[in-house]
Amino acid sequence: MAMRHSTIIGTGFYVPPNVVTNDDLARIMDTSDAWITERTGIKQRYIADEGTGAADLGKIAAERALADAGLTNQDIDLIIFATLNPDVFFPGSACILQSKMPFGTIPALDIRQQCTGFIYAVAIADAFIRMGAYSKVLVIGAEVHSTGLDFTTRGRDVAVLFGDGAGAVVMTPTENENEGVLGFALHAQGEHWDKLYLPAPYGSVRGRITHEMIDRGEHYPKMDGRAVFKHAVPRFCETINEVLAKTGYKIEDVDLFIPHQANDRITKMVGKQMRLPDEKVVSNIARYGNTTAATIPICICESRQDGRLKKGSLLLCAAFGSGFTWGSMLMRWSI
Ligand code: UT7
Repeated sequence: MAMRHSTIIGTGFYVPPNVVTNDDLARIMDTSDAWITERTGIKQRYIADEGTGAADLGKIAAERALADAGLTNQDIDLIIFATLNPDVFFPGSACILQSKMPFGTIPALDIRQQCTGFIYAVAIADAFIRMGAYSKVLVIGAEVHSTGLDFTTRGRDVAVLFGDGAGAVVMTPTENENEGVLGFALHAQGEHWDKLYLPAPYGSVRGRITHEMIDRGEHYPKMDGRAVFKHAVPRFCETINEVLAKTGYKIEDVDLFIPHQANDRITKMVGKQMRLPDEKVVSNIARYGNTTAATIPICICESRQDGRLKKGSLLLCAAFGSGFTWGSMLMRWSI
């Protein structure tokens, strides 16, 4: 019997206009285009103007997704905003977005799942749609990393990796079992939370942030890059196998694989281990760097534009990142 589930009916993305190349970074810190390219595959990233927050980028991506879906704000009945860079500590960026676009008083929630944010957000939207609670859900992944990175040699291991950007999708119910979201696999392993995290402001410290903390750079993200890398590849492969097993598909059935873009070496290793041919694996990290929760929706938009993702394509997405969190989703593309 056909079951109510969700499908994506509109997509949009936006990156701010300022391009920062590896050579630009090499002028302000001890790094080089050769190091960044060889270790990560990144050549450039986009950076927002000061005064621009995640909700500002998310708003433009959302407007584009709504236009693509042929809908207006008034049609939406739930907003889910994935970001690790909320505009302010609280409230969430979904509420800030509501102050910039009229959505009435519909529920608006943030999720904090870092690189896996978009997959978790789509899974939450799908669950709400399946249970019949909501029927036009706006899912956004948006990040302004650049205001929170240490662009000196001290912070070079993290600062060169990240870029700003936003992507959005509109999800609605379908009862057609040949389209839409087919399944998910979601995981988290909190014991590794301090392998990639932002220390300050500390919720547990009176005053939250001090001059000494700022002098020590505790308001910048910290990462054990090798540990993250070591966990990423096997977790990607496990979660892909899990979602395929859950949905009854084989890796050969997949038409397009969109992995989270953290490092092109991770993408290549996962593609190889999963025996996916290069032409089925999306990589745009060279142009955007790691845009965290925005990465997968940006890749989805670009894949539609270049014709690799089309109606009927079996789309596999997977991500791994801070938390640790990781997950995958399989969908039959319907637009
Ligand atoms: O999406 C969130 C999840 N994040 C990830 O998935 C990131 C996973 N990790 C990685 O992608 C890689 O570990 C990095 C790209 C972050 C680093 O590559 P690596 O091959 O693991 O390098 P490393 O951390 O072992 O550093 C090698 C050397 C070090 O110098 P020494 O100790 O060998 O003298 C670093 O200090 O490279 C140095 N280094 C740099 N040199 C030039 C670190 N950052 C830079 C830099 N430019 N930006």
